Amino acid sequence: MQAVVFREGRAVIDEVADPVPGHRQLLVAVRAAGLNGADLTQAAGGYPPPPGAPTTGGLEMAGEVVEVGEGCQRFSVGDRVMAVVQGGGQAQRCVVDEPLAMAVPESMSWECAGGFPEVFATAHDALFTQAGLSMGERVCVHGAAGGVGTAAVQLASAIGARVTATVRTPAVRAAVAELGATVIDPGEVADAGPFDVILELVGAPNWSANLKALAVEGRMVIIGVGGGSEVSVNLARLMVKRVRLFASTLRPRSLEQRATVARLVERHVLPLVDAGRIQVPVARTFPLAEAAAAYEYFAVPGKLGKVVLLA
Ligand SMILES: NC(=O)c1ccc[n+]([C@@H]2O[C@H](COP(=O)([O-])OP(=O)(O)OC[C@H]3O[C@@H](n4cnc5c(N)ncnc54)[C@H](OP(=O)(O)O)[C@@H]3O)[C@@H](O)[C@H]2O)c1
Repeated sequence: MQAVVFREGRAVIDEVADPVPGHRQLLVAVRAAGLNGADLTQAAGGYPPPPGAPTTGGLEMAGEVVEVGEGCQRFSVGDRVMAVVQGGGQAQRCVVDEPLAMAVPESMSWECAGGFPEVFATAHDALFTQAGLSMGERVCVHGAAGGVGTAAVQLASAIGARVTATVRTPAVRAAVAELGATVIDPGEVADAGPFDVILELVGAPNWSANLKALAVEGRMVIIGVGGGSEVSVNLARLMVKRVRLFASTLRPRSLEQRATVARLVERHVLPLVDAGRIQVPVARTFPLAEAAAAYEYFAVPGKLGKVVLLA
């Protein structure tokens, strides 16, 4: 089958062996698979897959079940499923641990389903499981025009939080505002607080402004560091504000932990998709065969939402 492989710092399409489902695993004919920052980092030689995970690209996918391994209980051949995977999503076939699979709502297109799992799982886990965001609280989402950012803005807005979003590209600010946020330039954050929760998807450039804008006993969740990861910390300022700091990655967690995230997304987010209250903004789709061009496009600033490969 065809799959995205990483060679000399680039993502290219190549022939690889078809994966074979094992115990409690589904074989899925992939219809759509999103790109994520981690794919770019892996292509460049960083963020290696956890031991035992596929080395081919793709951390999220959606498609039809074509074979079920021994012990599967929740899905059957022909079902539409989507999942966060540890690799191998950008391919014609992908093996998915059944506990990670979520049913694709009838109303959801393949391109939206392919770009949904990783970013909504990440945003839900960061905002609610880690930071404990609740209704009426003030939240700031950095990097809000991207995949995780557009997911986070919508989820926070859906529960009645008051959402401020930073977007550096003026052309996509209105679209992010329509998702439920007051949109500002990243340079305005320091004076835009106080925020009960800050979701950091960009990294170091926002650190000082975040500390100024965070409310006393505010929570900051660090999820993305594409803009830089080194900061100078005045520990006394953390103490004075009684800051709660969270930081996390999703991919290396145990199967049980990742399955728990999937169950929470099913319970809390998919009903909002069914009700038409959540969208998956897709900036552009590419055929799987043009994955190299999709990776180049993903690296260009100024997009709204996801880049998705269609298999
Ligand atoms: N920890 C985890 O488990 C986890 C899971 C998923 C994603 N992530 C990470 O979270 C981050 C966001 O993911 P994503 O899927 O939303 O990526 P994305 O779709 O590429 O979006 C990133 C957003 O951040 C903005 N941005 C990037 N650098 C910036 C800078 N220096 N200043 C201001 N804005 C900047 C981008 O704006 P422009 O378009 O203008 O560049 C874009 O809107 C990535 O770093 C990703 O690797 C982590």
